[in-house]
Amino acid sequence: MQKQINTNETHDYRSLGSITPSGFFGMSADNIVELPNFLTEEEKERLTNFALTNKTWDITNSHKNENGTVIYDANAWADRVCTRRSMEISHDPSIVDVVEGLISRLQVEVEKFFKVKVQATGPAIVRWPVGTRQDPHADKELHEGPDAGTPNDFPHYDIASLFYFNDDYQGGELFFPVQGIEFKPNAGSAYFFPGDRWYVHGVRPVISGGRFTSPFFWQILEHTCSDEEFNIGLEKAKNLKDKFYS
Ligand SMILES: [Fe+2]
Repeated sequence: MQKQINTNETHDYRSLGSITPSGFFGMSADNIVELPNFLTEEEKERLTNFALTNKTWDITNSHKNENGTVIYDANAWADRVCTRRSMEISHDPSIVDVVEGLISRLQVEVEKFFKVKVQATGPAIVRWPVGTRQDPHADKELHEGPDAGTPNDFPHYDIASLFYFNDDYQGGELFFPVQGIEFKPNAGSAYFFPGDRWYVHGVRPVISGGRFTSPFFWQILEHTCSDEEFNIGLEKAKNLKDKFYS
């Protein structure tokens, strides 16, 4: 049975496509999960080669919220992101099947870990050439200034996931300021963590080489935990609602 929520959130995440309030999973580092050697050698090589040789990248538009804050910056992602449509018209359309296969395999693990039923956004491959970086951000909401706690363009990005294809580059560490964690992702690993502002994360500048990843997101469709566990999650969300980190 899908569990209902009734919180007095300023923003009704349910109507925006999320049934999971910010803070539901708390802020523990235990929710930043790595599954080592998730990709086979063949998958790593195939995906890296695609990222190196692909010429078909998404074209998107920037978007501001009502405060004038840029909540999606298309310039930052120009010629770097390849999602399904671009994959389908690329030199190697069957790469869609490779990424979708990985997503299906990971779905089982994510559903088990967070006790949820989820659906994925879709396949994506991103390249990070020298000089690219990403400022700390949450995936489903804004996290600082007057916008803190307000939705971004993707309020249904309840859980973030990433596959890493390679590690023959310098820089590009992934960091989580709230948890005080920073690491260079392992080639072939899958990672997943909550998309809210308690799991703000960023990417250090790539110093040399090319960093290649497959990021995507899960929308939680249902919580399969016990009623007691669900209420604990709501309590965590309530307790964290008005808190901010420095
Ligand atoms: Fe992110």
